[in-house]
Amino acid sequence: MGIKIVSTGSFLPDRVLTNFDLEKMVETSDEWITARTGIRERRISEGETTSDLATEAAVRALEGRDPQEVDLIVVATATPDAFFPSTACKVQAKIENKRAIAFDISAACTGFIYALYVADSIMRTKEIDKALVIGAERFSKIMNWKDRTTCILFGDGAGAVLLKKEDNEGILGFDLGADGSYGDLLYVPSVGSNEEYPFYVRMKGNEVFKVAVRTMVESAKRVLDKSGILAEEVKLLIPHQANVRIINAVAERLGISEEKIFINLDRYGNTSAASIPIALDEAIKEGRLKKGDLVLLVAFGGGFTWGSCILRI
Ligand code: ACO
Repeated sequence: MGIKIVSTGSFLPDRVLTNFDLEKMVETSDEWITARTGIRERRISEGETTSDLATEAAVRALEGRDPQEVDLIVVATATPDAFFPSTACKVQAKIENKRAIAFDISAACTGFIYALYVADSIMRTKEIDKALVIGAERFSKIMNWKDRTTCILFGDGAGAVLLKKEDNEGILGFDLGADGSYGDLLYVPSVGSNEEYPFYVRMKGNEVFKVAVRTMVESAKRVLDKSGILAEEVKLLIPHQANVRIINAVAERLGISEEKIFINLDRYGNTSAASIPIALDEAIKEGRLKKGDLVLLVAFGGGFTWGSCILRI
C-alpha cells in the first residue's frame, strides 16, 4: 500500500502587479527586482479570500469527483480567513463535504510539505482513503506596501493535490525540521504577542537567504539518502519559489542541472505555502512530468522550517 498524488489543481487571482507597477509605489526598479530575485510580476487577490483561492484549487484538483469521497482536508496557510474556524473547515463547507476531518497547518513557506507529511502519516495509519492537501495564501494582506525590501517579493495564490491510497508507492520519503531560534529573522506578529498592529511581514532578507540555501541543500540530500535515490535520477526539482538565486544555488549544490528545475516565480513571486503545489500542478499540465517520473520537492520558510519530499508521479 502506498500514498499517491492522483491529481492536482491551482488557482491564481486575475490581477497582475508588475515590477513596473511597484516602481510607482516604492523606490525600486524592474531591473533591481529581476536581477536580485527573478520576479517580474505577481498576482494579487481582489476580494477573493484565502479559502476562496483554496477552494478553487481544490475543485480543480478534484476534477469532477464527488467531494463526499474526501476523508481529510489539510490546508497549509499563514494567512487564514479567520483565527477560527480553520481555512480547511471553510473549504469543506464550500465544496459541500459533510464528513472530512479538516484542519490547518502553520509552517510558513514550508507549510505544504508539512501538510503533505501529516496527511501521508494519517493515511498510512488510519482508515482514510482520500485527502485534499492545499497550500493557499493571501500574502498581499500582510505586506507593508511601503517597505521595498519585502513588498516586491510576495504574491497570492493556491495549489492543491488529491492524495489516494494505491497499490504502488507514490510518496517515497520526507525530511522535515525546524529551528525556532531563527524566528526573529522572518515573522509576522499576531494577537498573542505584545506587538502593535498593523501585522505585516518583517524580514532580514540577507540573513534568510544564506540559511535558506544551506538548509534546503542539507534537507534535500537527507531525503535522497534516506530514500536511496541519486540526485541524477530526479526528473524535476520543484523548489519553493522564493528567489531564483536561492533556487539556482540549491540546484547547483545538489548537482541538478538547469533543465531539471521548475521555476514560475517570474510570474507569481513567492506565494509561500502555495508555491510548491502551484508549481507541481503547472509542471504536470505543461507535460514536464510523466507517470513514473521522480520529483524532488524542497521548501524553506519562517520558523525557520524546512522540508523535502521525494515522490513518484
Ligand atoms: N529595490 C531597490 N533597492 C532595494 C530594494 C528594492 N526593492 N530592496 C532593498 N534594496 C537595497 C537595500 O536597501 C540595499 O541598499 P544599500 O546597499 O544601500 O544598503 C541594497 O538594495 C542591497 O540589499 P540586500 O538586502 O543586501 O539585497 P539582497 O541581494 O540580499 O537581496 C532579497 C534582497 C531579494 C530580499 C534577498 O536577500 C532575498 O531574497 N532573501 C531571501 C528572503 C526570502 O525569500 N524570504 C521569503 C521567505 S523565506 C523563503 O521563502 C526562502
